[in-house]
Amino acid sequence: MTTNKRIVLSSDHAAIELRKTIADHITKQGWTAVDIGPTTPESTHYPKHGEAAAKLVASGDCQLGIIVCGTGQGIMMAANKVKGIRCGVCSDTFSARMIREHNDANMLSIGVRVVGEGLALDIVDAFLSANFEGGRHATRVDMIKELEL
Ligand code: RB5
Repeated sequence: MTTNKRIVLSSDHAAIELRKTIADHITKQGWTAVDIGPTTPESTHYPKHGEAAAKLVASGDCQLGIIVCGTGQGIMMAANKVKGIRCGVCSDTFSARMIREHNDANMLSIGVRVVGEGLALDIVDAFLSANFEGGRHATRVDMIKELEL
């Protein structure tokens, strides 16, 4: 897999601290964290932050994306509306590995009100250390892509 080692991070107001923690964590692993905010704690709207991150992945500017909101659900739904994005919400490491290996997910969403910081970082590690297996899974991912046409 070609890699540009750039990961976009975004969140809503609920998840600013976890987003920053994840950014620090992946930077220590050699990734370039492209943190697009928000930086201030005022209430904001998760769809625009999911969209902004997803567009950087869909354009190829960033290889992967990690997004966070209260549940991880709303921001994931927004990201998945952008063509080319396959984003899953994960609250466990098995799912985080599988969405890469079987679904070729290019974005991960986490709910800050669902999992604690330690588990969130383990989920990130599981996602980033897994690779798409291709083969029969590529056939199925291609079927997902056809739904976008
Ligand atoms: C914000 O209160 C909350 O609705 C948001 O972070 C997220 O959980 C939505 O899916």
